[in-house]
Amino acid sequence: MAETIETLQKTSRVIQPSDSIKSGTYIQNYEQAYKQSIEDPENFWEGIAKELDWFSPWNKVLEWNYPWAKWFLGATCNISYNCLDRHTKSWRKNKVAVIWVGEDGQERIFTYAALHREVNKSANALKSLGLHKGDRVTIYLPKIPEQIFVMLACARIGLIHSVVYSGFSAPALQSRIQDAEARVVVTADLGYDRGKKIPLKTVVDEAVSNCPLVEKVIVVQREKGHFPLTAPKEIDWDEWVQGQSTDCEAIPLDSETPLYILYTSGTTGKPKGVVHVHGGYMVGTYITTKYVFDLKDEDVYFCVADPGWVTGHSYIVYGPLLNGATILTAEGKPDYPNPGRWWDLIEQYGVSIFYTTPTAIRLLMKYGEDWPKKYDLSSLKVLGSVGEPINPEAWEWFHRVTGGTKPIMDTWWQTETGMIMVTPLPSVPLKPGSATRPFLGVEADVVDREGKNTDHGGGFAVITKPWPSMMRTIYKDPDRYLLYWNTIPGVYTAGDVCHKDEDGYLWFMGRADDVVKVAGNRIGTAEVESALVSHESVVEAAVIGKPHPTAGEMIKAFVILKQGEHESTDLIKSLKDHVLRELGKIAVPREIEVVPSLPKTRSGKIMRRVLKAKELGQDPGDISTLEE
Ligand code: WTA
Repeated sequence: MAETIETLQKTSRVIQPSDSIKSGTYIQNYEQAYKQSIEDPENFWEGIAKELDWFSPWNKVLEWNYPWAKWFLGATCNISYNCLDRHTKSWRKNKVAVIWVGEDGQERIFTYAALHREVNKSANALKSLGLHKGDRVTIYLPKIPEQIFVMLACARIGLIHSVVYSGFSAPALQSRIQDAEARVVVTADLGYDRGKKIPLKTVVDEAVSNCPLVEKVIVVQREKGHFPLTAPKEIDWDEWVQGQSTDCEAIPLDSETPLYILYTSGTTGKPKGVVHVHGGYMVGTYITTKYVFDLKDEDVYFCVADPGWVTGHSYIVYGPLLNGATILTAEGKPDYPNPGRWWDLIEQYGVSIFYTTPTAIRLLMKYGEDWPKKYDLSSLKVLGSVGEPINPEAWEWFHRVTGGTKPIMDTWWQTETGMIMVTPLPSVPLKPGSATRPFLGVEADVVDREGKNTDHGGGFAVITKPWPSMMRTIYKDPDRYLLYWNTIPGVYTAGDVCHKDEDGYLWFMGRADDVVKVAGNRIGTAEVESALVSHESVVEAAVIGKPHPTAGEMIKAFVILKQGEHESTDLIKSLKDHVLRELGKIAVPREIEVVPSLPKTRSGKIMRRVLKAKELGQDPGDISTLEE
């Protein structure tokens, strides 16, 4: 660990914000604004909350009953009202809200008024199914506008959405539907991936075959008739919304009303359902989108995430719409049909804010600078990166090919935090590879296992005070929620290893736990292990993350085979196919090694740390607890 930190440190240079960026931005003096915000955080957050619309006011900003928080107590609001009605009641009514571009180049554009109508129709259609406030709806859609409609429609009438990334396979989808006890699943017949058709409907068929609580499956048919639907359970989206009124009042909800569940990986085999609520989440995503990206009405905002992950929730849907922004969202990969895809979209739509990932940047780097050079990227104003540490080399490339003057906001946060927590603002001096300093109102630190400040070397990233958009619990599993706050007593442990430099800049180095970040996607090693051991030829499995030049990390698995089984290319392929079927493409190990034994503690726990050190040719550290 110490070594990596040093390497990063040596490459760091400081990039000062240009005068033009500084003079036009909301927060021109970060130091002063930050100091003020944490002197009285409740006052700071209350001031932000007042920029939004509430049906009735709060009588208390925060109730902190460690580790349980409630924000804006007694207030009523609705995040969908703030994303839509707040704008349709203003001059923004006919402003473009969403520009969607399909993988095949198809374009669909919605103004705020049009989006409002679509959402209202979907909300009325949901009501027609007899759903009630608090019911769960699972959304398993490719990146198409209906995903946004149905999320906001749920929010509008107090339903809880659970979006599942459309790359997950049937068993993974099934366990998420079952845990949420969803009554309705919304899906599509097909997704597209580099021109290939991905049959989503078949995945849903398999998943719901074991979900007796699912009453209806709504299907967006992109190629009508591709899959015949079975009435009365399966309903075509168009027929479902047809004839529904374009009016539907957003219902006033207590600010602590759950808005969504989003499943994410942790240290156990079972994904956890992170719960976010209307009030605090709305305040946090609203202000971070505004300040971090310096979002103004004239901007065109392009975030490449998928709403299946938290970045899509907070920074495609909720944060930008709360701000009345014009959002560009595009289906498909950065290099399809060619590596100019995103640069082309930036030129065509005059994108000014571009929020992407280190993996995508490294992928585009491989194709060379000639690609971005072909396009006019002068509309860009602020850039962003998220999901994994960005290596200085990728940072510098991104900076250079976009003109050499646009600030890059390296934003650190998590599904659990709901909003960006550590990040530069456009006026803050940058160091390539560092997410710099905490956002206003956020107190972050680096500590050792006992919670003491670490002056040198790495430590654990922690958040020391509650913040409005923090998760409220883990769905049906409050004990797992408690773990975040009592692993290191008194503070929220993020699970990341981090280093704080002499300027107080934070350098996030990767996960401290058994979570691997493959292309920014969060995968629990335990989930992959349990998929592997469910294969008939495997007795035991251990999974680690290994550095990968493009994806940041890749999955490597070690397996012990059942007696009589022998290693072969076919067997390895069969193991990979099995993980593909159980979890999905993103979780398939790139490397599988057959081993006779695995390093274990005396109590039988596999020591992944030792495997990893061996694999990377490093010193495994303290191995006194090692049995074999
Ligand atoms: C990692 C994604 C370094 C980190 C928004 C965190 C980052 C995990 C950064 C959360 C960053 C996210 N620099 N690491 N800028 N952003 N991470 O829940 O390990 O999918 O704990 O949320 O991603 O992943 P999640």
